[in-house]
Amino acid sequence: MYQIIDGKKVANQIKEEIAAEVADIKKKGGKIPHLVAILVGADGASETYVSHKEKACETVGIKSTVVRMMESVTENELLEKIAEFNRDDDIDGMIVQLPLPDHISEHRVIEAVDPKKDVDGFHPANVGRMFIGLPSYVSATPAGIIELLSRYKIETSGKSCVVIGRSNIVGKPVSILLSRKTSRGNATVTLCHSRTPNIAELSSKADIIIVAMGKAGFLTADMVKEGAVVIDVGITRIRSDKTKSGWKLVGDVAFDEVAPKCSFITPVPGGVGPMTIVSLLKNTLMASRMER
Ligand code: GUN
Repeated sequence: MYQIIDGKKVANQIKEEIAAEVADIKKKGGKIPHLVAILVGADGASETYVSHKEKACETVGIKSTVVRMMESVTENELLEKIAEFNRDDDIDGMIVQLPLPDHISEHRVIEAVDPKKDVDGFHPANVGRMFIGLPSYVSATPAGIIELLSRYKIETSGKSCVVIGRSNIVGKPVSILLSRKTSRGNATVTLCHSRTPNIAELSSKADIIIVAMGKAGFLTADMVKEGAVVIDVGITRIRSDKTKSGWKLVGDVAFDEVAPKCSFITPVPGGVGPMTIVSLLKNTLMASRMER
């Protein structure tokens, strides 16, 4: 019988831990942690993510500010805004919601954020520090995955782990974290991507499979061995006549056929998703602690 990894429950537990810490800061008269999010344009998914982040901050008592800029904003105007927030001592953490319009360089924007305020963990300084095992901000989704493995006491040491998807914000960092010489590391990691010819052959031998492709239902039962741990990072919105909104979220895993073969599996929604936001809250708290 498989066990569902309940990301929502774990995320709520962690939110309570964060809320208690923020309450303690307030009680002692300290500065309330402050996260600022910059949202450029009106991308629907980005609007949703940012409003979830805002709500989560409110729940735990972290101050949050959302700065909206027009789709037509120039790269320089955005860089100036970032520089202004870098200088503002009241702001502990800053995120620039991605994707950005085509005329703005994502790389220049990421590099403009002060690494000490880079609670997304996207700046090369943080990525590099994580790579060599120094303390750093780790981006939200990989950090959330490691936290779930840890809270469910899922051993990674000596295990074979297949990561499917090589994005800078999920696949690449999580593969590095799992291979580090630390707790929830020490795994033998294979990073698969769109040019890997034999994904099924590799995944069907893996103890742990992490799928972050963005292809609904990609991982099928024949690609998974009995007793595997499956972590689904996919979120694709598809039409549904069974929900009020007319949409539903589905993952990269064909859940109904894969779950019976697993020891542990994350659902979509309610698995990795809720964990990403608490990772951001944790990073913001860490940033404010460093300031103090
Ligand atoms: N777009 C999709 N995921 C993320 C994220 O974690 N951070 C930011 N800034 N943008 C995103």
